Amino acid sequence: MSEAVVLGIESTCDETAAAVVRGRELLSNVVASSMNEHARYGGVIPEIASRAHAEAFVPVVSQALSDARMELADVDAIAVSAGPGLAGCLAVGVSGAKALAWAAGKPLYGINHVIGHIAVTQLQFGDFPEGTLALIVSGGHTSLLHVRDVARQVDVVGSTLDDAAGECFDKIARILGFPYPGGPHIDRHAQTGNPKAIRVPQGLTQGRAGAEHPYDFSFSGVKTAVARWVEEQEDAGRPVPIDDVCASLADSVASVLSRKALDACELYGSHSLIVGGGFSANSQLRAKLAQEGAERGVQVRIPEVKLCTDNGAMVAMLGSNLVQAGVRPSPAGFSIDSVMPL
Ligand code: KG4
Ligand code: ZN
Repeated sequence: MSEAVVLGIESTCDETAAAVVRGRELLSNVVASSMNEHARYGGVIPEIASRAHAEAFVPVVSQALSDARMELADVDAIAVSAGPGLAGCLAVGVSGAKALAWAAGKPLYGINHVIGHIAVTQLQFGDFPEGTLALIVSGGHTSLLHVRDVARQVDVVGSTLDDAAGECFDKIARILGFPYPGGPHIDRHAQTGNPKAIRVPQGLTQGRAGAEHPYDFSFSGVKTAVARWVEEQEDAGRPVPIDDVCASLADSVASVLSRKALDACELYGSHSLIVGGGFSANSQLRAKLAQEGAERGVQVRIPEVKLCTDNGAMVAMLGSNLVQAGVRPSPAGFSIDSVMPL
């Protein structure tokens, strides 16, 4: 079945999303976010996010079907993110998807959200180049992956040893007084700052840890260094140059992500790099990858921002790949896995 119609459902964090694809064509893509409800707490509150999923599930799925001019009976399969993510949030999406699949007699695929971020790029760029590398960066994950077969085998080349890149930005944003999620605020302020104003370390670039983990990342030291520098300015009664702090931070994080991803491409002989996850909306990262990718002969595939952040299209697209590859649906009793490995 090469042109299967798949309904994808996403609820790993604070977005309730659903989309319909036919083969590799996106027919609808609906996202409801509870982000504003978390802003005043400085981060996602799982209980609030889970309740928001329970409220949004039916309206979002109905909207996705009606935008695609379909009924549930018209879809060939349903896919849902089964992990990694917040357990309570996953439970709402997976329970809802199981109920739909059971009632309508449709096969159901519990998919890995991180691989969904890779799969979605096919909607914009088409087939994967063979053995491509992928960089997935968001508030929850920072992973370098080798894509042998998106439906069956994706291997980890490197990942963060502590904070994810988006998490690092969100934590520093909080220190600088920006609301959650702070990543986009740092991006905006960085555009008018001096990226060389402050020395921000690049995690795991060299030395013992660097040699052991050539393709891993570490962002907790970056966070500590920036926090300490800001504190010193405040203690000394000096104004904090917000734009310069943001520009220096963004330059450091974008540089290490770009360099390690392109080094890994070289190691694997890949002339392409797939990029996804909410942090790939970051302008400094997009600019660095575009420039350094061109210099090093690597085609960088970063989709438009609405496909980078969490959405239903990524789930539906991976579901479509699984159907096409002839992978068996998940068993009726499959479980969520909040720390699902690849
Ligand atoms: O993929 P995503 O929507 O959700 C997770 O799975 O985490 O990513 C959200 C993360 C947040 O940490 C947010 O601050 C960050 O992506 N983010 C950005 C930008 N847009 C979103 N970080 C830096 N610059 C941006 N423009
Ligand atoms: Zn994500």
